[in-house]
Amino acid sequence: PSKSATHTDLQANKYIPPWTSPYIIGVAGFSGSGKTTVAQKIIEQINEPWTVLLSMDNFYKPLTPEQRELAYRNEYDFDTPEAYDLEAFYNCIISLKEGKKTQVPVYSFALHNRTDESISIYGANVIIVEGIYSLYDPKVLALMDTKIYVDTDLDICYSRRLLRDIVERKRDIEGIIEQWEKFVKPSSVVSVKPTMYNADIVIPHGSDNTKAIDMIIKHIRKQLQKKSAEHLAHLARLGRMVAPI
Ligand code: C5P
Repeated sequence: PSKSATHTDLQANKYIPPWTSPYIIGVAGFSGSGKTTVAQKIIEQINEPWTVLLSMDNFYKPLTPEQRELAYRNEYDFDTPEAYDLEAFYNCIISLKEGKKTQVPVYSFALHNRTDESISIYGANVIIVEGIYSLYDPKVLALMDTKIYVDTDLDICYSRRLLRDIVERKRDIEGIIEQWEKFVKPSSVVSVKPTMYNADIVIPHGSDNTKAIDMIIKHIRKQLQKKSAEHLAHLARLGRMVAPI
């Protein structure tokens, strides 16, 4: 993709040339905490060209036929970090950060598996990485410019998840309850919650907290303007160096 900068864009430092290394934002929190809503609000309000939302769900490990059987009986643990292909997730972010064309697998919650499809992403200026363990791996944390944890009460997450899993993920209510009690709730408390301490910013009351989200957006805008100004200054210096005498 390409986008030409207008003079006003350049003056206002609004334009980020597509060849800068992307600004990476991590959004973590319990399942049902409102991570996606927070990410979407950020995307809408920063209004930057080439913003990409990358969901960690696409990096679930493929299951063997036996594991898939367990998953259909709600007996497979999708809430441990081991359920994710953390290496593939890291490689994907690195590749995007280096500005390379990158294939992202597409996951199906109905099939409990990756589909045959993949999405091709390249030229991103801002990447928002969203997932229960997006603030878990130190290697991934080191790539992020802003780390956000959405802190929503577990009972609110549970009621949201019930509705979502029935409506969007076509699950039955007994299975959702069983999976919640057995895997989701214990892992949320033991493994997801501690990643809050890796965050720069914690949003209490989740995605309803408009004041916190507004403050985060102001911060990100400022950082993007700074990045853009630095990049333009660098280009100007290069231009002077190669200018004909
Ligand atoms: O979108 P969200 O953050 O809720 O996605 C993570 C959740 O998806 C995990 O808590 C896991 O229990 C659930 N999951 C599932 N079935 C799968 C893969 C993940 O219920 N096949």
